[in-house]
Amino acid sequence: MSNNRDFACTFLLNESIKGEKLIYPAATRNKEPILQVLKRFINCDTDKVEDLSPLFLEIASGSGQHLFHFAPHFPGVKFQPSEIEENLFGSITYYAKTCPTKNMLNPILLDIRQKLNYYGIEHNSIDYMYSANMIHISPYECTIGLFENAGQYLKSDALMITYGPYSKDGVITPQSNIEFNASLKSRDPSWGIRDINDLIKLGEENSLCLIDTVEMPANNKTLVWKKN
Ligand SMILES: C[S@@+](CC[C@H](N)C(=O)[O-])C[C@H]1O[C@@H](n2cnc3c(N)ncnc32)[C@H](O)[C@@H]1O
Repeated sequence: MSNNRDFACTFLLNESIKGEKLIYPAATRNKEPILQVLKRFINCDTDKVEDLSPLFLEIASGSGQHLFHFAPHFPGVKFQPSEIEENLFGSITYYAKTCPTKNMLNPILLDIRQKLNYYGIEHNSIDYMYSANMIHISPYECTIGLFENAGQYLKSDALMITYGPYSKDGVITPQSNIEFNASLKSRDPSWGIRDINDLIKLGEENSLCLIDTVEMPANNKTLVWKKN
């Protein structure tokens, strides 16, 4: 079942080896469909990183594969990976150092439940925030932290992009996602597929408006949020 394979990245955490790249099968599959969505929403006229280049902050980078795949397509954008799990830094750093366009930075240690100024990030300074597969595979406090930080640290009119499975109107579909949700909760009761209506409300509380919902392979969605 494809969504169960998305879950697999969490089981790889204990197997990560410092300094060697990790390959998450789910990230290998979904990186290209997500890139096609990003191409519709990322604007950058320059072809190399300059002082005023847009900043794209990824929360919960995992293996680092996503930014490694995205960065060469937007050579004028600075891609900043981040992770709470230090064991993943070897892999993310490997991808950053081997990024052919050199616009993927080294990872920063970041717990999204903390305010981003704790990490030296200034209010209204981020052009894009992005998080894939964290919202459902972490306690809801991480989702709250993600939205609160996006509301405070994104520039006005800037975008947050989130990817993963979501329910709508309290209904999880299809059956494979119901089973996936049960498997998440059996692993950690604080995890689980979140409802888009709850996220819209959280967005409203944090000056974020859902501007697009893109259906993705394997019963996932990409949600695009705009800061007011
Ligand atoms: C399923 S993995 C997703 C990795 C990657 N984004 C992907 O799609 O392949 C979820 C990630 O969320 C991270 N995470 C969990 N809690 C976090 C927190 N409080 N702050 C930042 N990252 C967190 C985990 O360390 C893990 O790497």
